[in-house]
Amino acid sequence: MSKSPGNMLIKGGTLITMDKARKVLKGDILVEDGRISKIGKVSASAGGKLILDAEGKAVLPGFIQTHVHLCQTLLRGMAEDMPLLEWLKKVIWPGEAAMDDRSLEASVELGLCEVIRSGTTTIQDMGTVNGQDVVFESLKRSNIRAFAGKAMMDMGRGVPRKLKETTRNSLQTSEALCKRWNGANNGLVRYAFAPRFVLSCSSRLLSEIGPIARENKARIHTHCSEQAPEVAAVKRNYGKDNVEVLAEFGLLGEDVGLAHCVHVSRKEIRLLAQTGTGVLHCPSANLKLGSGIAPVPEMDESGVRLSLGADGAPCNNNLNPFNEMRLASLIQKARLGPGAMPAVNALALATIRGAEVLGLEHETGSIEEGKSADLVVVDLGKAHNTGHDLYSSLVFASNRDDVTHVIVAGKPLLWQGELMTLDEDAIVKKAEQEKKRLTAEIDN
Ligand code: GUN
Ligand code: FE
Repeated sequence: MSKSPGNMLIKGGTLITMDKARKVLKGDILVEDGRISKIGKVSASAGGKLILDAEGKAVLPGFIQTHVHLCQTLLRGMAEDMPLLEWLKKVIWPGEAAMDDRSLEASVELGLCEVIRSGTTTIQDMGTVNGQDVVFESLKRSNIRAFAGKAMMDMGRGVPRKLKETTRNSLQTSEALCKRWNGANNGLVRYAFAPRFVLSCSSRLLSEIGPIARENKARIHTHCSEQAPEVAAVKRNYGKDNVEVLAEFGLLGEDVGLAHCVHVSRKEIRLLAQTGTGVLHCPSANLKLGSGIAPVPEMDESGVRLSLGADGAPCNNNLNPFNEMRLASLIQKARLGPGAMPAVNALALATIRGAEVLGLEHETGSIEEGKSADLVVVDLGKAHNTGHDLYSSLVFASNRDDVTHVIVAGKPLLWQGELMTLDEDAIVKKAEQEKKRLTAEIDN
């Protein structure tokens, strides 16, 4: 592992490029200075390169999870079988409020081990209200590509005192974090302003986020229309549907990602499409919290930008893109028939379409010369995933244990099944201790 950083030769893999033509070929990938410099036949003669033998394996663009909450990983299993608003008020918000820097770091790093192990090279993360520098430090250490930002909450019923900020503080802290972290770690780390959802933000906060985010060239990341009682409460407050409320506050556009959008009208779908707003589809979380099934094929037909995410560990309870791809397809087949959402479409949501939603389509999301070497290697030679169709083998038959290598900007994050940037044993041990400490703090 001591060869020149960012230079690598990936030999003999089946390259599932996810480029415009959805080209699949057998060949090599040369990585120089963290970028894909050549695809095809590359001689191994030039020295100084790390060699990755991908014979019998598939090489794909790394998975992109556009909606996660790493800060919630330590809360996995703490809030089962509850609807959204009760789940937030009774467990998730008190859990986030009880965290300090140590438990937050343990939570984030535990989540990072899981997302990297399952082939994720880019995430968009919603942090909690406090301690966001800790999240960014861990993101940087892991070398994952990430948009992240602190959650913004300046009102709302049932919000614990520790999570309720003043409007001014929420804006000032967010902007200071953005100035500190947007573009950090050679551009791998970027800022996304994160108003949690309409119900936890005042109208003044909502109206001021857009201009500040845009001035700072940051993204905007929020939750929208996940569950019917949330939609009803927004309508009571504003007399309008959620997407229309966001439109009124200038919070739609190509730089905005809305998690869920399960309950959206035709009019809202048109608004999403017209503005280029991204919908961050979280099928597992939508099923587990009983939110419903998002009308993804309908949004797709209307031209809405779409991507995938696992959401947080307590509403899933995995952070695994294989689960999300599989479910994204299966739930639509159940609704609309077996022709809905073929495997290749699900894989596109987890790769190139995720990149498009984050405005990163020139940098990542497909295997193309000039793009960053953000790659995942999947062993397709196991008893459970050999098959006749590469896409269905990947989406329906493979899982995270089949991931052998994960590379971001030419740097190995997972190499032959071993995490390279994070000390997994130490993280799991620390998480076990912090989980106990956090439980005691919540009980107090
Ligand atoms: N809506 C507002 N906050 C959250 C959250 O933490 N998780 C989910 N699933 N929905 C939310
Ligand atoms: Fe979420």
